[in-house]
Amino acid sequence: MEIKAIKNISPNANLIFNSFDLNGLKSDPLFKSLKNEDRNYIERVIGKDELNPKKAKLVHLPSNPKRVVIIIGLGAKKDWTRKKLFLASRRIIAELKANKVESAIASLEDLTVRGIDAGDFVALIVQNLVMADYSFVTHKAKPKTGWPVVRKIEIYSKAPERISKYIAEGKTIGEAVNSCRELANTPGGIMTPEKLANAAKRIGKAARVKVKVLDKTAIKKLGMGGLLGVSSGSAEKPKFIILEYGPLDKPPIVFVGKGITFDSGGIDIKRSGGAIDMKMDMSGGAAVITAIAAISRLKIKAHVVGLVPVAENMPSGSSYRPGDILKTITGKTIEVANTDAEGRVILADALGYAQRYKPALVVDVATLTGAAMIALGSRTNAVFSNKEKLLEFSKEVGDKTGDYAWPLPAWDEYDEEIEGTTGDFVNSGKLYPDGGAITGAVFLKQFVGNYPWIHLDIAPMMTSIEGQYLAKGATGTGVRFLIEIARSFK
Ligand code: BES
Ligand code: MN
Ligand code: ZN
Repeated sequence: MEIKAIKNISPNANLIFNSFDLNGLKSDPLFKSLKNEDRNYIERVIGKDELNPKKAKLVHLPSNPKRVVIIIGLGAKKDWTRKKLFLASRRIIAELKANKVESAIASLEDLTVRGIDAGDFVALIVQNLVMADYSFVTHKAKPKTGWPVVRKIEIYSKAPERISKYIAEGKTIGEAVNSCRELANTPGGIMTPEKLANAAKRIGKAARVKVKVLDKTAIKKLGMGGLLGVSSGSAEKPKFIILEYGPLDKPPIVFVGKGITFDSGGIDIKRSGGAIDMKMDMSGGAAVITAIAAISRLKIKAHVVGLVPVAENMPSGSSYRPGDILKTITGKTIEVANTDAEGRVILADALGYAQRYKPALVVDVATLTGAAMIALGSRTNAVFSNKEKLLEFSKEVGDKTGDYAWPLPAWDEYDEEIEGTTGDFVNSGKLYPDGGAITGAVFLKQFVGNYPWIHLDIAPMMTSIEGQYLAKGATGTGVRFLIEIARSFK
C-alpha cells in the first residue's frame, strides 16, 4: 500500500471523509473542491439526520459516477480522543476494503486531537492505516477475485513536503507491528526456535542491527538451567537471541521477550482447546526483535539490547517435571510447581543475563499469564515495575501509542507467595489462581537485581478482538510500546 501526501486533488480520485457532522463535512477543503452539483447531491443523500457513526455512506458522484465518495461519521466532537483516532484511522482501510475501493484521498481535518503535534498526528494515522491493512494469508490460496487490497491512500495537505517525513515514520512503525504479527501468527510447527532465530537474523540484518544467536551448547555453558529445563521436552533445541543497536558507550535499555514458540503446557498439559492460540506465545520475543529493527530504521538515539530466550514447551519422556529444581544463570534455583508456568522460567535466565549489561532500564514483554486477561479483558496489557514512577511512565507510553498498559502491583508483600520449599522460588504462586498475574511478575522481579524494571504482561492484548479493525490473530502489541520507550526514556 502506497501512502503519500498530496496538495493537488486529482479530478478522478475517490475521496474518503471523516467528519463529525454535516457542518464539518461542508468545511472540509476536499469537500469544497467538489463541483456544486456533487456537493448538493451529497448533502441531499445525507439529509437532515447527522452522520451515523455506525454506518458509513457511499456515494457515486453525479458529475462522474465512477468517482466514489465514502463518508464516515465520527460521532460527537466533544468525545473525540487520541484513542478514537487509532480506530478511526484503521476504519478508513476497513471501509475501503468493504466497498472494494482500491485508492482514495483521505480527509483528516476533523480527526485532529487537541494538543497533538502535527507530526505525531500524521505518524499515528499512518501506523494505524498500515496495521489495518495486514492480514495473515501466507498459507492460504488466493481467491479468484484476489484479496481485497488498498493500493494507495493519499493524504491531503497544504504542505505535503512537511508531512512526508512523518508518513515514512508511521510506515516504519506500522510495518514493524505487522512483521511482529506475521512471526506470531506463524504456527508452532513452522515457527520453531531455530526459525525464530533465523528470522531475527534476517530482520536484524535488513535493519542494520547486530544479531547473535546462542545455541544449546552455549546456553548450557552459561548455566541457563531454566531455559534448558523448559526446552527439554521438545525435539526442538532452545536458542538465545541477542540483538544490539546504538552507541555502546552508555548503559543500554535491555528489552527481554518471551519466546515460547508453542506452549502445550508441558507435563501439566493444557485442557483440550486451551493451546489453540499458543503459537503466539512468542509474541513478546517477536515484539522485541521487530521493535529494535524499527528503532534502528528510525535512527532513534538510544542504546538498546534485545534478549529473547526461545524454546518450545512440550510433554514427552524428556520433559521437565513438576517437582524438578532448575538452577538459573543467577545461581538462584526454581522449584517447578507447574510446567505450564514456563514463561517466567525462561525469562528468569534472560533477566539474569540482562544484569551483565548494568542496564539503565530493563523492559520485559511476555504473554505471561491468563490471569492478566481475567483481570483486564483484552483491551489493555498489565504493567508492573519495581519503581513506582515507572508505572506512571508506562501508562503514558501506553496511552500515547495504543499499546495500553494498566498498572498492577509487584510489591514485596507478594514475595512470600513464591517462596520455594525445595528451591529458592516456586514458579506458581501458593495462592494460585489468586493474583496470578502478580505472582508471575514478582517471580520475575527476583531475577532483575536492583535495576529499574518494567514488566509488560501482553497476554491480554495478544489476540485481536472484534471492533479493532485488525485481522484475526496476533495484534503485534508491545512493538509500539518498546519503540516509544527507546524514544522517551531518559
Ligand atoms: N502462555 C501462557 C499464558 C497465556 C494464556 C497467554 C492465554 C495468552 C493467552 C502461560 O505460559 C501460562 O500457561 N500461564 C499459566 C500460569 C499458571 C500455570 C501459573 C496461566 O496463566 O494459567
Ligand atoms: Mn504456559
Ligand atoms: Zn506460555
